[in-house]
Amino acid sequence: MEISRRRLFRDSIGAGATLTLGAAAGGLRIPQPAQAASANDGHALGFRSLTDEISLPGIPVDGRIPPWLEGVLLRNGPGLFEIGEQKLNHWFDGLAMLHAFAFAGGRVSYANRFLQTSAYKAYRREGVMKYAEFGTDPCRQIFSGVSTIPVIGKIPNANVSIERLAGQFRALTELPVPVSCDPHNLRTLGVDVELPQGRMGTAHPHHDPRTRERFSYEIELVPPAGLRIVSERNGRRRELAWIPDDRPGYLHSFGLTDRFVVVFVQPWEFDLATFLSPDGGPIVKSFQWDGSQPARILLVDRKQGGVAETFELDPAFVFHHINSFEDGDDVVIDVCAHEDASIVDALYLKNLRKPGPSVPQAVPRRLTVRPGRPKVHSRELADGNIELPRTDYATVNGRPYRYAYGVGVRNPRKSGFVDRVAKLDIKRGEQSFWQERGSFPGEPVFARRPGSTREDDGVLLSVVLDAGRKTSFLLVLDARDMSELARASVPHHIPFGFHGVHAARG
Ligand SMILES: [Fe+2]
Repeated sequence: MEISRRRLFRDSIGAGATLTLGAAAGGLRIPQPAQAASANDGHALGFRSLTDEISLPGIPVDGRIPPWLEGVLLRNGPGLFEIGEQKLNHWFDGLAMLHAFAFAGGRVSYANRFLQTSAYKAYRREGVMKYAEFGTDPCRQIFSGVSTIPVIGKIPNANVSIERLAGQFRALTELPVPVSCDPHNLRTLGVDVELPQGRMGTAHPHHDPRTRERFSYEIELVPPAGLRIVSERNGRRRELAWIPDDRPGYLHSFGLTDRFVVVFVQPWEFDLATFLSPDGGPIVKSFQWDGSQPARILLVDRKQGGVAETFELDPAFVFHHINSFEDGDDVVIDVCAHEDASIVDALYLKNLRKPGPSVPQAVPRRLTVRPGRPKVHSRELADGNIELPRTDYATVNGRPYRYAYGVGVRNPRKSGFVDRVAKLDIKRGEQSFWQERGSFPGEPVFARRPGSTREDDGVLLSVVLDAGRKTSFLLVLDARDMSELARASVPHHIPFGFHGVHAARG
């Protein structure tokens, strides 16, 4: 396996570089895959590939962009859902594309580019899929008898989020190999580390500006298996905790308070035998839900290291933590809670492209624990559902807070796909919304108005699919009352992505 993997790395680096230069110089276009457009496509257009790399110095704006809004909204997500003949199976599989909406003096420009990953470069060079993705892995068949685990490229398909660290921008996926990129021209700058075999990471690290620490985790899938909590400061890495676990649970995010790293361990467990089986399929198939097992909350001591407390509670599945903080002796942990891991299956493209797909929704749930006491108190923060949560991170992460923002579904029984932007008011225990018929918004990123003192004094930036026009627009909402301030439209659709970041100038 190692031999074939090294050979693949070498191949992809060599020929891929030429294609990178070619794409940069000539803006190579790939023919659009033949996919029938249908009047009933609706939201499904958001799961169709965008193959063109586009740069638009000015896009039309309806309404008024606040003059104080500057900098750039960078977004990450899948851009290509087919690799040659290979159709990707899962929303998480699409090849990473970066999008940039830049603001200056009330005007907006737009550009997009594919991340120059090993998978993308192999596709451009050979027209085939050579690396494993979360829910698609043809390599298991190709390398049967040679490869016993999924083959990951040197530059992974980092299509989930974007991290800003010490002035650098890095695209992330669930592997501990950030892919650096330039926010000005969306060029891929490369990776600094090589992926150890069988290790997963997080697309949602935390940063504490007060201590200048970065927190993350690593999941070791192959023996010795377990979960490692890591902090880094000025390039120095410290292992805060190692929790051995033969069947480590899947994680997507975690929480951070002044004293603790907060980990919600869910009983969607990794099965090594399936993983090592030549016909084990993509890695998603190696995780198994065991509803007879409790979920666990681990509090890892940031200062001393080690697991300070462990709590057990009814099983639940969490992609996203909203925020965590300490309230006296209590530790408060807010999450988007699913009943179980069926959400992962619901995010297969085959399901998502259906009219009115069935997609389980997450509720905003507050879990409160107190070190020294076993009980976990659980309550819903408001009626309704919410996902892809954001806060004014720089100000409220790890602190008591009032507001979170996300996306939701108006009527989960009729339409399973997100069709509104949500604002969660924790103090009042209610949500308010922006919604528009035929519009399907993505994660709203909060940008605070400079000099503001109110927690919600700023704008929400959400890329919205207009299914009727078959195009997308950047929606700018006043976060205080969810009213629309402006929309800036592009002449094409932008596939549904996951996460982004607003970077003000300077
Ligand atoms: Fe995420």
